[in-house]
Amino acid sequence: MDYRHTSVLLHETVDGLRPKSGETFCDGTIGGGGHAALICEAIGETGILLGIDKDGEAIAAVMGRLRSYGCSKVFSQTGFENIKTVIAETGITVLDGAILDLGVSSKQLDDAERGFSYMHDGPLDMRMDGGADNTGLCAEDVVNGYSEEDLCRIIREYGEERWARRIASFIARERKRGRIRSTGELSGIIKCAIPAAARREGPHPAKRTFQAIRIEVNDELGVLKRGIGEFIDILRPGGRLAVITFHSLEDRIVKEAFRKREDPCECPKGVPVCVCGKTADARRVTKKPILPSLEEERENPRARSAKLRILEKL
Ligand SMILES: C[S@@+](CC[C@H](N)C(=O)[O-])C[C@H]1O[C@@H](n2cnc3c(N)ncnc32)[C@H](O)[C@@H]1O
Ligand SMILES: [Zn+2]
Repeated sequence: MDYRHTSVLLHETVDGLRPKSGETFCDGTIGGGGHAALICEAIGETGILLGIDKDGEAIAAVMGRLRSYGCSKVFSQTGFENIKTVIAETGITVLDGAILDLGVSSKQLDDAERGFSYMHDGPLDMRMDGGADNTGLCAEDVVNGYSEEDLCRIIREYGEERWARRIASFIARERKRGRIRSTGELSGIIKCAIPAAARREGPHPAKRTFQAIRIEVNDELGVLKRGIGEFIDILRPGGRLAVITFHSLEDRIVKEAFRKREDPCECPKGVPVCVCGKTADARRVTKKPILPSLEEERENPRARSAKLRILEKL
């Protein structure tokens, strides 16, 4: 199966995780398996790879891609935020390292039927699992079912879109005429809502709104907040977690979660000695995020907004 995805910050991430022979690693967003393949190579025949993805198609493709590596492999089609349940089921107790490479893969973006892209006309879906269990909100529910106020809030907060109010009002007006069902229709409405002068500069006018709706559909910020702590909890001392983010809202969550584990003290400012008793259980390997090289940015536009942060358990 053809699974097109160019891994972002591939060597920077895997070098930073330092996988060694016989170790146990988890890739919580295994996607096309680019990072996982390098990890498999390093952990060798005695290592264990736990591969997680919400997308069943990704799991099926990656099982094929990684077949030739000798390590033991366990795959789970679920959200990475369920990591504790997954490892309880597999009998793995601690991890030597883990990676989360957030967002969608190029394969998901390029597949019109998944509804992630304003570039291809398709159904308004945007569910990471493609609606595998036929439950959960899809983009069509959000666009047609949310109040104008809620749409405005989501587009402003998750899309950081300055035209959120106009876009929400245009959507509310259009859906009175009939249900909005396709990415093409939605993209057209957004284009009309953004004044022509503002449309001329910057990225595609629908980019921010599509990002916002995708974040809402998959509760991406919520699962990241919950999942990141669980991954840190199950690292062995010296074990590392690498997280690659693609926009500032995600990066802020990772930065804050890492900082809190390094400096968890909750004492009021000005207290001469700590009385809350909370001590660090991890250290930031990267104080500043690692960014892609100019060469990588040139070759892979998807890498342009990427930031990599790495944490080590004490
Ligand atoms: C950027 S791709 C990962 C690419 C991969 N690192 C590679 O090198 O091929 C992100 C993947 O994460 C998955 N994903 C997104 N949110 C998830 C979640 N909460 N739990 C599990 N998988 C998730 C998506 O389905 C997608 O396959
Ligand atoms: Zn304190």
